Amino acid sequence: MASARVLSGMRPTGALHIGHFHGALKNWVRLQDEAECFYFVADWHALTTHYETPELIGDSVWEMLVDWLAAGLDPNKATIFIQSRVPEHAELFLLLAMFAPLSWLERVPTYKDQIEKLKDRDLSTYGFLGYPLMQAADILIYRANLVPVGEDQVPHIELTREFARRFNHLFGREPGFAEKVAVSLGKLSGKAGKQYEELRRRYQEQGDAEAVAQAQALLAAAGSLSAADRERLAGNLTGARRTILVEPAARLTETPKLPGLDGQKMSKSYGNVVRMREDPKLLTDKLRRMPTDPARVRRSDPGNPERCPVWELHKVYTDDATRDWVVKGCTTAGIGCLECKQPVIDAMLAEQAVWRERAQPYLDRPQVLREIVDAGCTRACAVAQETMDDVREAMGLGYR
Ligand code: TRP
Ligand code: SF4
Repeated sequence: MASARVLSGMRPTGALHIGHFHGALKNWVRLQDEAECFYFVADWHALTTHYETPELIGDSVWEMLVDWLAAGLDPNKATIFIQSRVPEHAELFLLLAMFAPLSWLERVPTYKDQIEKLKDRDLSTYGFLGYPLMQAADILIYRANLVPVGEDQVPHIELTREFARRFNHLFGREPGFAEKVAVSLGKLSGKAGKQYEELRRRYQEQGDAEAVAQAQALLAAAGSLSAADRERLAGNLTGARRTILVEPAARLTETPKLPGLDGQKMSKSYGNVVRMREDPKLLTDKLRRMPTDPARVRRSDPGNPERCPVWELHKVYTDDATRDWVVKGCTTAGIGCLECKQPVIDAMLAEQAVWRERAQPYLDRPQVLREIVDAGCTRACAVAQETMDDVREAMGLGYR
């Protein structure tokens, strides 16, 4: 995966919880050793839903960045930046909007879902409809080919691919392509030229791949053509376009779903989270109070781990031997639930101790964090500007 370029973003929603770590960040950290990675704070995305409380976004941005570094993101390996500091995202978003079919945006599953779910907010806005388009711009502007995301984001990546294809189709022609093709064609003998046109028609009208092969052989044999003529006429055969924007693939995070403290999905809005840098005493309390298999009313009642959210935590936090001990102890009432929770608590505290230690220097000296982000924004801008030069040129805006 040497040439992979990875991009992903997260909305600034305040301090992160361990669901964010195991569901996304852990994967980001792994990828930074395998590929060129760009990770950004999607603050404009947060505004699409939180435009009435923008003051919450600012604090969240910095808290989240501390958690990223605590998790092990390394600014010397990955480029870490903030979306709104790279205004080119907005420029590409605007240009994509010119040819973005409304129907594509309206049929994105998250669109109607979220409007339903977040009923207390008015999301019938232009900005919210454009959410997946802005996400496409985020990805395409770095020509990323790999986007690590959760399952819910897959339709957005699919849409991004469609926008890349549509862009390349509309604008991926060399300027003056048709004229240049005519000139190149003129360099073929009359007979070869007729044959070329005939073969091209056979391919375009009947999809005859053999015709393409024959035409390519014909071009290869024509000594009167330059390499550029050949390439142009070969491209013209299949209607191929230059790839200006790259189609990305989604990379799903393969983690078991981490339950919240009440067994539902872990989410700040459910109030059932363990934060990444939780106070150790609070963490212990939260875990000790966590509900278990309801069948275990008394210590002497046997239970079933499959019906217990603590078991899901064991799957992430403890080893095989401990899990054998749990299954045996739970189903025979050999152990109590508090006893069962202890190895999870210990593992979480150990994990969090590392995070706290990594975070401390940035809490002591916020300026250091600012500098890391400044450098990341500068790097990101350079890449984004390069893409925008090509995009403007392709769209006929190269005259400025
Ligand atoms: N929509 C993503 C989410 O809610 C966040 C995001 C914004 C993103 N832009 C992106 C993710 C680009 C990956 C790539 O999680
Ligand atoms: Fe859950 Fe463990 Fe209690 Fe069984 S013993 S119900 S797995 S906490």
